Amino acid sequence: MIEFKNLVKKFGERTVLKGLSFQISEGEILFILGTSGTGKSVLLKNLVGLMKPDEGEIWIDGAEVQNYTENQYLEIRKKCGMVFQHPALFDSLTVFENVAFGLRKHYRLPEEAIQQKVQKALGLVQLSGVENKLPTQLSYGMQKRVSLARTVALEPKILLFDEPTTGLDPVTTNAVNQLILSLSRSLKTTSIVVSHDMQCALSIADRIIVLDQGKIVDQGTPAELRKSTIPLVKDFLSEVLELEAANG
Ligand SMILES: Nc1ncnc2c1ncn2[C@@H]1O[C@H](COP(=O)(O)OP(=O)(O)OP(=O)(O)O)[C@@H](O)[C@H]1O
Ligand SMILES: [Mg+2]
Repeated sequence: MIEFKNLVKKFGERTVLKGLSFQISEGEILFILGTSGTGKSVLLKNLVGLMKPDEGEIWIDGAEVQNYTENQYLEIRKKCGMVFQHPALFDSLTVFENVAFGLRKHYRLPEEAIQQKVQKALGLVQLSGVENKLPTQLSYGMQKRVSLARTVALEPKILLFDEPTTGLDPVTTNAVNQLILSLSRSLKTTSIVVSHDMQCALSIADRIIVLDQGKIVDQGTPAELRKSTIPLVKDFLSEVLELEAANG
């Protein structure tokens, strides 16, 4: 479904992505873990054409896309819904209109269908009832969920999440993780989740990739990663293992 071949991204003298190669199959949930500043957000932005790689290839659904024009990328972005690390909502629009925005832009739908899709998406992120509020009237966590709803409403084939749960309370974190899992399974969505949360990766990922300084240092299924001998992976694991030990 998605393939990166030897992807390189530089900013001036600095090489952020140092030749990344990996694939994601249809319906798979792939987690990308890594420390701050290692290039995770840059990777997702390259995938949807918000940044262009300096070298390498990106394949989506059988098409090589890295040289696409801005217009061609609009089609890709219909297919690949991205939930950004920071909510980036339109402050002057209500929650309802924020979620409806992409639907209105990409599809010609009767108002009734838009109503229905918006309500459904808000329901999925447990935000029914705040349709008429402005983003500035909501907490950060609620804004994140609105941005999640906005993407989910478009029912994309591919969902890209950039730290979907960072800054959320444990209950909402759990709900969002379950949402990612259920969306992927019920809509057969292919999902890439960028995260710091090893516990969540172990519980819902099909496969996990660990990045460090722009390179893949380890990858595998949750069961495989649990046995990793790579120091960074062990660091990520230690907290989870402690918690599990504490819970028996
Ligand atoms: N537009 C840009 N111009 C120059 N440098 C950039 C740009 N975007 C990102 N970088 C640099 O690329 C590196 C990787 O950034 P990126 O945002 O991908 O990190 P990240 O892995 O997502 O980190 P975090 O976990 O903190 O979100 C950083 O050092 C950052 O300063
Ligand atoms: Mg980031």
